[in-house]
Amino acid sequence: MSSGFEAARDLLHARGQGHLLRYWDRLHDDERGALVRQLDDFDLDTVARLTRQWILNKPAPEVFEQIDPVPVLPIANMNDPSAREAWDAGEEALRAGRVGLVLVAGGQGTRLGFDGPKGAYPIGPITGRTLFEYHSDKIHALQRRYGVTLPWYIMVGDTNADATRSFFEDQGHFGLDRANVFFFQQRMMPCVGDDGNLLLDAPGHIACNPNGHGGSIPAMVENGITKDARERGIDTFSYFQVDNWAAKLADPFFIGYHVLREGQVSSKICRKTSPREPVGVHCVCDGMYQVIEYTELDLYPQLLHSGPDGSLVHFAANTAIHVIDGAFIEDTYARFEGFPWHCSHKKVAFLDESGNLVEPSSPNAYKFETFVFDALRFTTSPPTVLEIERLGEYTPIKQISGDNSVESARRDMNELWGGWLERAGANVPRDASGRVAIDIEICPRFALTEEDFGARSVHSDLRTSLAIGFDLS
Ligand code: UTP
Repeated sequence: MSSGFEAARDLLHARGQGHLLRYWDRLHDDERGALVRQLDDFDLDTVARLTRQWILNKPAPEVFEQIDPVPVLPIANMNDPSAREAWDAGEEALRAGRVGLVLVAGGQGTRLGFDGPKGAYPIGPITGRTLFEYHSDKIHALQRRYGVTLPWYIMVGDTNADATRSFFEDQGHFGLDRANVFFFQQRMMPCVGDDGNLLLDAPGHIACNPNGHGGSIPAMVENGITKDARERGIDTFSYFQVDNWAAKLADPFFIGYHVLREGQVSSKICRKTSPREPVGVHCVCDGMYQVIEYTELDLYPQLLHSGPDGSLVHFAANTAIHVIDGAFIEDTYARFEGFPWHCSHKKVAFLDESGNLVEPSSPNAYKFETFVFDALRFTTSPPTVLEIERLGEYTPIKQISGDNSVESARRDMNELWGGWLERAGANVPRDASGRVAIDIEICPRFALTEEDFGARSVHSDLRTSLAIGFDLS
């Protein structure tokens, strides 16, 4: 252990971070080992570069001569021959076992403030079904429909890896074959204090955060996910986020467009609800596909402009639902150093000089992350961008109430499934503002789509909350 200490000490002193060893004498051997391992895992050169670029100086924003709206395919429907062709191609790829699922669930879920992995949040208002269960119900339904296995690759972070694995164990992997459910861990990045120094949040632990959902690209290669998939004949990944309860996994339209165009990265977008909606915007910047974050809207005011008909020109809101080609991930891994980093100023708990844990009341440190949509910059053929309706596909859960919340997700569940019931002939109570007035849940294993539901539905006059199709053994 002493050689580990000497190496760590030399490294930290060389970087002016010797304060991180302040409590070394108090640490047990296992804590010392953990601290040295943490240091080994960090890419300290990158941290030093980002500190210089973002904290000690302020980076100049990227300058573009021209920002064009991204070409968008319209919402897919079976009356459109090209969409029908995509559907057929997507179903063929699914039946042929070419599709794997990638779920990113490594985030810290700070805004939700739930004590556990975000995927274990009981989103079902009646059943208490968790986000993970809803996702696995969809996987069961798809596997049954296409007669295949859809391997499920789940990215976790240091802060939730153990809890996520245990949750799946406790729940019997939700009835999925555990041989087809994989967890892989993303790398962490140290948080950097306002003064450019790293922080301790425990005597033997450096405050850090997962390296962003862009970290899925290196993590999939370094943890053998792309290799495992290739060996199974999978070349196409359906990528989604744990907090989007409504995501359509392995949507045949989307997969189909992607494979017919031999795509590298394809993205689903929805229409922005207002020019300043806090969501990233897909656009083409000097010929390169990119997503511009909402925090940068004032740098690029043309993103707020409306066309002659009054509608927003740059309407393409990022939903973080993608299809990504396996070979493209491996190629991009080799160029991951060129991935842009994004920086945010956050409240990060730290140990003060006396060893007390301080929970700051205002931001005191910087977090660095990579974003998966930046893979778009590395594409060599034009990405496919497909429009979707929000209802039934995009309902991210970031907090308990307000926009993109547990509350709004449950409202959308009622609207989505209430609509299915009404169109199947049922009478669904609505309040004065026209909203569905009861809670409704329909198990995706019972009916994955409205068509499935219409074929099986027998409900008529509803008065109380209703959960359908959950008594599955
Ligand atoms: P968010 O950026 O919304 O972060 O992640 P979050 O962790 O869910 O919530 P906050 O910001 O701390 O409140 C969007 C999706 O990307 C995943 C999250 O788990 C979520 O599914 N993600 C995010 C990762 O897998 N790793 C990361 O490093 C960051």
